[in-house]
Amino acid sequence: MKGIILAGGTGTRLYPITEGISKQLMPIYDKPMIYYPLSTLMSAGIRDILVITTPHDQENFKRLLKSGEDFGINISYAIQDSPRGLADAFIVGEDFIDGDSCCMILGDNIFYGNDFTKMLNEARINTQNGYATIFGYQVKDPERFGIMELDKEKNVISIEEKPEKPKSKFAVTGIYFYPEKVSEYAKKVKPSQRGEIEITTLNDMYLKENKLKASLLGSGFTWYDTGTFESELDAALMIRSIQNNKDKIVCCPEEIAYVNKWIDKNTLTKRAELMKKNAYGKYLYKIIEEDN
Ligand code: DAU
Repeated sequence: MKGIILAGGTGTRLYPITEGISKQLMPIYDKPMIYYPLSTLMSAGIRDILVITTPHDQENFKRLLKSGEDFGINISYAIQDSPRGLADAFIVGEDFIDGDSCCMILGDNIFYGNDFTKMLNEARINTQNGYATIFGYQVKDPERFGIMELDKEKNVISIEEKPEKPKSKFAVTGIYFYPEKVSEYAKKVKPSQRGEIEITTLNDMYLKENKLKASLLGSGFTWYDTGTFESELDAALMIRSIQNNKDKIVCCPEEIAYVNKWIDKNTLTKRAELMKKNAYGKYLYKIIEEDN
């Protein structure tokens, strides 16, 4: 399975901050925003990852993430020259996906909660059986999101992008799993009224073929779409509080890589040395010590 992080877009909602830096490179507490979706893909066991960015931001992402070798993964890069819509990720990424199944995650989405790795694995298995999977989360402002309507058995019966009269409070979060050939589906998506090729239209194609499953994230789960000043600060404070309480770093790609045996002690030590002056580096040293 291939993974895509969509990290383009104009970022105008966060101007003036994002006039000089891509949103997905900004910090959420102690790490760049993109570490969170990257860690999520790694937790799903995905090691071939494409990072899609705007043309002018690509160099900065490359400087940060390089080849992926520090995390025991392969990172490739592609450019989206204008924000044509979320489903465009599968057109820009067509050669990279190369007919495989694919998970796409938005570069500004943060997921944290129990059993998430298990849910990601189930979604991965669904793709092998020809099903796409979306993840629902209850929100108080459903007009801002893609919204799924569910029947009593929690099957999706409809899906709408930013509806004026939402049929439920279950937002479609920014992580999506698709079986083989998603690029072919994406190429059939017609632009919406706002001129974008919408992920919601793509999901609706799978729904119409009875090939769409939904996994619901419970009330104990935390999901952030960090697209506003408030949500970015809320997410940062939440991460700080969890990390302080649990004495654990949330979405630490080095840790995931080490636990999965994708990197060895040498690589982890190099990363720890690089950050030895702060709590992140000390945390990496602790992982090494506890493994001795
Ligand atoms: O966060 C979940 C929501 O994401 C879903 O509920 C919606 O169904 C989905 O359409 C999307 O809604 P947004 O209004 O949040 O999408 P936005 O245009 O803000 O784009 C999300 C991220 O993707 C943002 O960080 C910029 C990036 N992006 C966006 C577009 C349209 C790209 O990299 N390329 C694009 O072409």
